Amino acid sequence: MAGDLERYEALFRHSLEHENDLLGRILAHVAARRGKMMRPLLVLLVSRAFSGAEASEGTLRSAVALELLHTASLIHDDVVDQSALRRGQQSVNSVYGNQLAVLSGDFLLSLALLETARTADLRVVEIIARLGGTLASGEVRQTENVERPETTEADYFAVIRSKTAALFEACARLGALGAGAGAADVERAARLGELVGLCFQIRDDIFDFYADGGQGDADGKLGKPTGADMAEGKLTLPVIHALGAAPSAEMSALAARVKQREATAEEIARLVDFAKQSGGIAYARSVMSRLAAEACALAGKMGASDVAQALTNYVNFVVGRDF
Ligand code: IPE
Ligand code: IPE
Ligand code: MG
Ligand code: MG
Repeated sequence: MAGDLERYEALFRHSLEHENDLLGRILAHVAARRGKMMRPLLVLLVSRAFSGAEASEGTLRSAVALELLHTASLIHDDVVDQSALRRGQQSVNSVYGNQLAVLSGDFLLSLALLETARTADLRVVEIIARLGGTLASGEVRQTENVERPETTEADYFAVIRSKTAALFEACARLGALGAGAGAADVERAARLGELVGLCFQIRDDIFDFYADGGQGDADGKLGKPTGADMAEGKLTLPVIHALGAAPSAEMSALAARVKQREATAEEIARLVDFAKQSGGIAYARSVMSRLAAEACALAGKMGASDVAQALTNYVNFVVGRDF
């Protein structure tokens, strides 16, 4: 896999090269932190599982396109969420302002489509073109949820399926397609990706309930703010579950204030405590474990034993990660 990763990195760096104008400086700021590379890793692992050999150029280009699309979505997400920190450094919007963040996110999206076109595979083009819309619709649906009087668990899952899991699903699907897997294997890989993506966002949402990321992340390994979701009006799985499992008129009224963006920091802190004490975190972890078990069952049957093990480790990292 090391060779695949090196080839991927070279292509990714190359795709971001730009003259030293303002746009070039913004892209250099973005490229200064590379993130966890969860999405390209999934593409490459699934590809290896089905081909048993090094990734094809088309697969590498798919991986680059997906990471570029992910990066664009983070830049836009930080505008939407008015977030000042990303990957342990100032977000693009906080250094350059919202206008340039929107435009540079658009630029990255265009780079992603260009990379997609270079696969010369219309199936890849269609999957990635559709994916951009799915990610955006998930974010819109999330805003819609904030404006509704109540958020159910089903509403929550509809959002995270679109805004996060669809991307992981596409990674696994394109890894399998690029390796020439048959239709049934492609669908199994896609399901694995979706499950991993759901787990990934649930884990991310749990981080938000802890000032330090939940696992002694006092050195800021997470690299982005926590405690922000409710300040943005978002109710996530732990608190949604707690409100249903331990009904309380007082807490429901607080949740309504969160949605109206009227809750004070002290009120949000009370809801956080309530979610923890009423088993909301434990519940979110149990849902994640169930999804991860299904993902591991699929991973364990994918490819030679060493690759299956690597895929299983990947799933376990997503669930157990502390950054
Ligand atoms: C952040 O994704 C967005 C979510 C889906 C929660 P990552 O945590 O994978 O971001 P990077 O790429 O590692 O920074
Ligand atoms: C993550 O949304 C999903 C994206 C499409 C970017 P969040 O708003 O929950 O992610 P973070 O916490 O800012 O990374
Ligand atoms: Mg955000
Ligand atoms: Mg967001």
